[in-house]
Amino acid sequence: MLRVVVLISGGGTNLRALLEAADSPDFPARVVAVGSDVEADGLAFAEERGIPTFVVPLSGHPDRDAWGEALLEQIAVWEPGLTVLSGFMRLLPQPVVDALAPALVNTHPAYLPEFPGAHGVRDALEAGVHETGASVIVVDDGVDTGPVIVRERVPVLPGDTEASLHERIKPVERRLLIRVVREVADGRLDLKELSR
Ligand code: GAR
Repeated sequence: MLRVVVLISGGGTNLRALLEAADSPDFPARVVAVGSDVEADGLAFAEERGIPTFVVPLSGHPDRDAWGEALLEQIAVWEPGLTVLSGFMRLLPQPVVDALAPALVNTHPAYLPEFPGAHGVRDALEAGVHETGASVIVVDDGVDTGPVIVRERVPVLPGDTEASLHERIKPVERRLLIRVVREVADGRLDLKELSR
């Protein structure tokens, strides 16, 4: 059974979808802990299932590296086989990426390498493109630059707002994330091979 730690910063709707998938006895992975850099609303989805949570705020540490060290310590307690960034809105310090990758994946609301960064949905809208997408990547030392594991197109519709477009992207993201976790757990997806 693959042990998964999920990191979030916000509402955690993608986390919720993964937790629901993992409720099925057939699902080959379990979310063993959920962490955040803030008191994220989405932590409640873990708490209601009795899944342990942890919060490691940047502000409690002298610098980003010290924060990263504390975060990594909390993650390591759960001995994850996979760590998922699911709407975790801070860049991980390099030593954290080095310790966890390639078993460290990130979901992103755009068709990477298009529109990386914190505002993937807004940037796609502002660029006036007719389609954007959703991606799951292996995290590397750049901003959304790691190897793409899977991505799918999502159309931009006339009259879309950032919110309406994001709501259309998220179900795709959830499907892709669940597929990636399942395939890593099944051994069908080798993240090491992908990152070579
Ligand atoms: C998701 O769309 C995720 O891809 C995005 O934040 C949202 C979190 O939603 N992450 C990024 O933009 C990272 N660059 P959620 O908290 O409801 O799951």
